Amino acid sequence: MSTVEQEIAKRRTFAIISHPDAGKTTLTEKLLLFGGAIQTAGAVKSNKIKKTATSDFMEIEKQRGISVATSVMTFEYNSLLINILDTPGHKDFAEDTYRTLTAVDSVILVIDCVKGVEEQTERLMEVCRMRDTPVIIFINKMDREGQNPFDLLDELEQKLNLKVRPLTWPVNGGATFKGVYHLLEKQMYFFKGNKTKIEEEVVLLELDSDELDKKVGERDAAQLREDVELIEGVYEEFNREDYLSGKIAPVFFGSAVNNFGVRELLEAFCQISPFPIARQTNVRLVEPLEKKFTGFIFKIHANIDPRHRDRIAFLRVCSGVFERGKFYHHTRLDKDVRFSNPYSFMASAKEVIDEGFPGDVVGLYDTGTFKIGDTLTEGENLQYAGIPSFSPEIFKELINLDPMKSKQLEKGVQQLTDEGVAQLFTVQPGNRKVVGTVGELQFEVIQYRLEHEYGAKCRWVPMNTTRACWITCEDPKKLQEFIRLKGTQIGYDKDDNPVFLADSEWMLRMNRTNNPEIQFHTTSEFKVMAD
Ligand code: G4P
Repeated sequence: MSTVEQEIAKRRTFAIISHPDAGKTTLTEKLLLFGGAIQTAGAVKSNKIKKTATSDFMEIEKQRGISVATSVMTFEYNSLLINILDTPGHKDFAEDTYRTLTAVDSVILVIDCVKGVEEQTERLMEVCRMRDTPVIIFINKMDREGQNPFDLLDELEQKLNLKVRPLTWPVNGGATFKGVYHLLEKQMYFFKGNKTKIEEEVVLLELDSDELDKKVGERDAAQLREDVELIEGVYEEFNREDYLSGKIAPVFFGSAVNNFGVRELLEAFCQISPFPIARQTNVRLVEPLEKKFTGFIFKIHANIDPRHRDRIAFLRVCSGVFERGKFYHHTRLDKDVRFSNPYSFMASAKEVIDEGFPGDVVGLYDTGTFKIGDTLTEGENLQYAGIPSFSPEIFKELINLDPMKSKQLEKGVQQLTDEGVAQLFTVQPGNRKVVGTVGELQFEVIQYRLEHEYGAKCRWVPMNTTRACWITCEDPKKLQEFIRLKGTQIGYDKDDNPVFLADSEWMLRMNRTNNPEIQFHTTSEFKVMAD
């Protein structure tokens, strides 16, 4: 095996996703504790933007500084190099999460056993299914009185449109939670609640042994035997290939805050999760083992210090070896760029690195050359597929309050939307700027940042629009005709693609029916595919 092959085989790049409050931060922290990357509980917590906050910008500003450092967390475990890509908890930043999901090779989905599948879980899983991303499910908070585990599994299958396969099984839940039975290892892990220390009692127990009755009590032992029989009867045997192709999701039960079930999860993750594999571009599939470097930008972070306009672009290495100081081709701009201080996110310190391998995330200082989705290569003209823009849900027109500062406003809006904070559409006549987001919070963030970072003042005028759909048509004349007829209901995105701005689902449906030759796309993904 070549060194590069070994480096690739070592890497596991994934994200933990959940509906807010299910326990993503807690689980991340416990994984880092197991991996030795942090020493005390509470280190990650401080990074959280309080989910209840609606407009505490100073808080956000403060958090931004910390979250650059914790956007990617790297640690070693069982001689693997594990990269956890952090995703924001607040729902208004969901789009950030969607984009991060394009840069991972697998995900762990955290479900609260009391609440089951929640709204954001469904949306996040939709994004995973678009790329058949392998998913492991962790059902958390088993120390709380939750739903029946069989019902939970049914709910997962129905709402997430996905097949599941339990690999551990709980004995009770809530106050009488006794632990989990590992269905593959055939051993019982007894629950001991401990929030700070890692403490677990593992006992090898045959299901039909008397010992089991003694340890968990006759009634619970009988229930467990019955449950396991049912599981073996209902669910097919776990098959790793089905997991890797996104067809089946293995399920674990535990309690993150109590350090329970986390080690089994991590061990299983190390055994079954994929290392970096081939990725699709607009021209061909790129294998990680290819000699030449390629990678793409999936996230851009503004500098915490508003006096410095530079930003940090997060590059996911997809093939070859990224080298410090070497010139690479920026395919969108068709120009060569180099980086003298690329850094990695090992432990908590930022560290300048000389090279990065497929699966790695490299931080690049950017002075405005990058947009989310940009691809770097050694010359080949290709573009990584799948950094979608989703149709925003809230639309407001941006009004400049200080005509003397229109240049600053223009630049600020361009840069902030390049960062992916929101989407910008231009509507004629009058070059009106319409900003679309998935949450109210973004408008406040943009207004605040325009003022503090660019010295420009603005206000927002709410619009009736509820949906933006990119429109295409095989016949360019018909498309032009549709655009002409719809007038101010048409905007243009930053790449000049026409977008239909609909006031309601009903209006969208009517336009679809009346114009069968026009295609309406709810994500911009069609762009890369069609190139
Ligand atoms: P998130 O990142 O998905 O939003 O969730 P987070 O980890 O912040 O967890 C949300 C709340 O759930 C936290 O409580 C956390 O302590 C609690 N929690 C996480 N895992 C478990 C578990 O296994 N059992 C129980 N009972 N609770 C769990 P909080 O009150 O919001 O914060 P804190 O005051 O505990 O820090």
